[in-house]
Amino acid sequence: MSIKKAVLPVAGFGTRVLPATKAIPKELMPVVDRPALQYVVDEAVAAGIEHIVFVTGRNKGAIEDYFDVAYELEDSLVKKNKTAILDELKRIHMPAGSTSFIRQQGALGLGHAIWCARDVIGNEPFAILLPDVLVKAEKSCTAQMVEAYNQVGGNIIAVDAVPEDEVSKYGVIAPVEKTGNLIRMSGMVEKPAKEDAPSNLKITGRYILQPEIFDLLETQERGAGGEIQLTDSMAKLMEMQDFFALEYDGQDYDCGSKLGYFEAVLAYALDHPEIKDGALDLVKKALG
Ligand code: G1P
Repeated sequence: MSIKKAVLPVAGFGTRVLPATKAIPKELMPVVDRPALQYVVDEAVAAGIEHIVFVTGRNKGAIEDYFDVAYELEDSLVKKNKTAILDELKRIHMPAGSTSFIRQQGALGLGHAIWCARDVIGNEPFAILLPDVLVKAEKSCTAQMVEAYNQVGGNIIAVDAVPEDEVSKYGVIAPVEKTGNLIRMSGMVEKPAKEDAPSNLKITGRYILQPEIFDLLETQERGAGGEIQLTDSMAKLMEMQDFFALEYDGQDYDCGSKLGYFEAVLAYALDHPEIKDGALDLVKKALG
């Protein structure tokens, strides 16, 4: 069955970049000229995703507005003949009926956020994209995963290597055997201490999962940080179904942290057709 739906959990507070996120959702913080979330939606759409389920929370209403049509704005752009930006606004419209918004009513963890989407996803495999993470890649990271999924089926998570002293910030896999860029695993663990980490391969924040994950999430006990962790339910699913980690081609940026956000802005500015030359000049100037 092909992957047509994606869940984007957007309920988190963004405490690592306060006060920037006090009044605007962290997912709407701009990276050059568009919200970080737009890059993630573009990534999903580029992978053939047709329906996006946003799991939101309190004070996230601006996200729903962002994906709506802004009639007054578009009308004024038409009158002013600003066709380029108008076309861009139209490009990012999601077709009517292709988005759902579900409230996660408490900060119970990523696993709980995903479980909240169960009725809309139904009984089919689906993608998850964590919007804190931007992945810059020639072929969208999710598209690479869908391609791998179409070959091997089962469940797939994107992974990449991090320095050993950073493993405790992530979910980490226990690799067993690598074929091409697909890795079979014996387990995975959420936010392990450095000395307990089974490898330095972190879970990047892109997943393709079978719907059986929802049954496991339903009874999942709290794990790392006292939260219901997706990683813990995936570790159980791995005992029942095929499960692969994909070493994708691309570079990830953690927009949920100050430095990661800055790195993302820098990388996207240096690659933006309109400002890349100017951005490079500014970087050189700043370095003296
Ligand atoms: C989440 C996941 C973790 C993953 C990380 C990627 O953690 O639980 O497994 O490695 O995203 O950014 P969080 O960043 O929400 O603490």
